[in-house]
Amino acid sequence: MANCQRFSDISISERILNSLFLLSIALGYLFSLGQVFFAHQGRDGQPGLSIADIAIAYHGSPEQTRLAAAINGPMAGNLKSPADRIVILDWIASGAGQAVYHAQVAPILRRDCVACHSPASGMNLPSLTSYEQVVILTEADRGASIPSLVRVSHIHLFGIAFILFFVGKLFVLCEIPVWLKRLTIGIPFMSMLTDIFAWYLTRETPEFAYLLVLSGGLMGLSLNFQIILSLYQMWLPEAWAKSLQSRLSVSASRMALISGRIWAKLIRGWHCANSVWKQWLNNEANRRNLVELNKLFLLLADRIKKRLRRGRRLF
Ligand code: HEC
Repeated sequence: MANCQRFSDISISERILNSLFLLSIALGYLFSLGQVFFAHQGRDGQPGLSIADIAIAYHGSPEQTRLAAAINGPMAGNLKSPADRIVILDWIASGAGQAVYHAQVAPILRRDCVACHSPASGMNLPSLTSYEQVVILTEADRGASIPSLVRVSHIHLFGIAFILFFVGKLFVLCEIPVWLKRLTIGIPFMSMLTDIFAWYLTRETPEFAYLLVLSGGLMGLSLNFQIILSLYQMWLPEAWAKSLQSRLSVSASRMALISGRIWAKLIRGWHCANSVWKQWLNNEANRRNLVELNKLFLLLADRIKKRLRRGRRLF
């Protein structure tokens, strides 16, 4: 592959263009972390972002309502007085009656919320201007709806695939061991797909929030690895890039050597154990002991089985 293009072959103007693109993507990534934080933090009632917040965002939480989730989390800052949060939460807990709504809740919403949450704002948000519209948001939180997940999935796939493609296209120009390059090119795409798949799984089963966070994190790590390495090799002296490359390929070959040695040891160990075992079996007394031991085992297994059967009757 002598005629493959590398970063050392491209002009300074191209380097500037590539670098500005990569830096914009890295900055966009930081903002997307901020977006994840502000959209999901506090959903579980605790400040800050946690796995539980992510699980609630996708799976919902039966004892939490959309309105409570919003004022505990992303909308908390819009309430002028923290005491008003308690007023609204108490109203929801008491069954969201109409009388209390008009007496206590409507004035708060009118003051702090309807500037955005009304048809007049043109923001296409749930309207908070009438009892009927607000009460819908006090039903149990069932998490993300399938139509909204489908909408975000298509936006994500179309948008992020482009980002990964162009960043990967530049990353291909790096000088690194080919096994590492092939691996690093595949990982962001795989983790993007796993991430999106995990949204739907988390909607059904909240524990999949771990998979969701793990694959999202892996995508971020591999994408930023590509960006940083590309910037490094584009601008830093070639000698440094070469030394990094040789160090990486040395460690790869060393890894192959070590794993080969471990295999050889394992196989030798197996043969050795096998021959010791055969010698041991050749002895008449040993064989008799083995038969006794076997009987003992059967007896023990029988006892355990009986104990378990008795236990099952207890439950
Ligand atoms: C500055 C504009 C603004 C104000 C003021 C505002 N919101 Fe929001 N609200 C938004 C936006 C934008 C979203 C959608 C983004 C999101 O979900 O984070 C939203 C989302 C919501 C949702 C989630 C709807 C859903 O789909 O589950 C609820 C509930 C909500 N707000 C309630 C409130 C309440 C209650 C107040 C008053 C304390 C309030 N908002 C004040 C802009 C606002």
